[in-house]
Amino acid sequence: MLNQIQLGTSPYAQLAKVMERYSEERTRGKVVDYQDYATLQNKLKALDINEGKQSWDTVWDMVETYLSYSVKTAHPQYFNQLWAGQSEAALVGSVIESLANTSMYTYEVAPVATLIETEVLNRLKDVFGFEQGEAQVTTGGSNSNYLALLLALHRQYPTLKHQGMHGLPKLAVFVSADAHYSMDKAMVMSGIGLDSLVKVPVDDTGVMRTDELERLLQASVDNGRVPVSIIGTAGTTVRGAFDDFASIATLAAEFNCWFHIDGAWGGAVAFSKAQKHFLTGSEHADSLSWDGHKMLGVPLMCGVIFVREPGNFDRVCNLGDTSYIFHQGAERQDLGPYSLQCGRRVDMLKMWLEYTYFGEAGFEQRIDTFMQLSALAENRIQAEPTLDLQAKRWINNICFRSVPPSGVDLNEYNKRIREKLYQSGDSLVNVAYLDDQLTIRLIIANKDVTKQDIEQFFDHWLMTAESVRKELQQCA
Ligand SMILES: Cc1ncc(COP(=O)(O)O)c(C=O)c1O
Repeated sequence: MLNQIQLGTSPYAQLAKVMERYSEERTRGKVVDYQDYATLQNKLKALDINEGKQSWDTVWDMVETYLSYSVKTAHPQYFNQLWAGQSEAALVGSVIESLANTSMYTYEVAPVATLIETEVLNRLKDVFGFEQGEAQVTTGGSNSNYLALLLALHRQYPTLKHQGMHGLPKLAVFVSADAHYSMDKAMVMSGIGLDSLVKVPVDDTGVMRTDELERLLQASVDNGRVPVSIIGTAGTTVRGAFDDFASIATLAAEFNCWFHIDGAWGGAVAFSKAQKHFLTGSEHADSLSWDGHKMLGVPLMCGVIFVREPGNFDRVCNLGDTSYIFHQGAERQDLGPYSLQCGRRVDMLKMWLEYTYFGEAGFEQRIDTFMQLSALAENRIQAEPTLDLQAKRWINNICFRSVPPSGVDLNEYNKRIREKLYQSGDSLVNVAYLDDQLTIRLIIANKDVTKQDIEQFFDHWLMTAESVRKELQQCA
């Protein structure tokens, strides 16, 4: 492959050639050239990173190795994560961002980026119903959820800023049992601690049970714990379920606590007239997280948090002696003081170009197409006698499994099929657990995926299942 690239030209020209070639290759052939850990480690060890040859040939060799063994996440058989494929316009933003290499903290070093970020965030605030509020770019959903918890805590306990947790009562934070694990991390990082995280049971469609939430809120208060925040999810990680935001909002008001929505994944339905009903009640939320790098296909990372009441970021993030960096006057043009970060990438350049190319009508069409393709996948599962739909389909998460031959463990059987499929490089799909039951989680989030690709995925799955069945028969 390297021979096709004419060496000796400028690194920028080479880069353009590599990008051109890889953009084609990544959608063809195998999803991955699978190597086990030790084999790949040996291949990489053969490349001495400390030789310092000052040779571009060596650099491009390394690039080839990297690309050759990377998973092709834009491949139409890649259904593994809550993101897939890539929008070319946003990719241009990613490359240009690195080329111009600045940091978002001040207008002084990022003048155009400051205006772009402000404009994009204003647009997004309208879409997500936070017109009067504030928004901040984060390193992703985990970071947004963490920040939301800090905002909740500091609003409730203003003394926290200077005195820390000292003297605070025992606290409680409420999430659904299906919430993302970033909430557990947020509990640790915020200093509240895991023992104060109350995981509310979900119903059989994956929705947080608000009768249980109410009972657990009351029980916490009765036990001397003060509720700080309730976190609902818009599009849970495995099932794609949406919590009942209107009922959560009522309880949050009753128990006087911050209502956050983790919409990192499913928040994108806000762009679709047909789907945004899932967000009903979100107009009462104090904050909402959303990731542009998930359903919208913007290159990672592109996280945003929206907050209803302005002034919260200032309270938590605007600290310390910053005289060496922020030189602004009363005009307050710098965005840095309202972020958890100091140095920060210009992630909104990707989103700005994505907007410029597709517009909200384009985003809507994409989301609606994902839902149509997901309905097709659901129908195929229901039509196949050896496949089971394992959970209600909400959006573009499809949870299914193969029915094992009699006497074979269901979890082991499905795990083996998925592993074999991955190692073959034909398709890549994820595995998760609903209670103790293993489920295959298919995510349709690549804007270039077609009906044929979905059908092909199921053909691959069924063929692999058949071959695992035969292997098991031979062993028996
Ligand atoms: C519901 C939900 N919230 C948060 C996250 C974390 O997002 P990020 O990877 O951007 O930190 C995920 C990731 O899958 C998620 O599914």
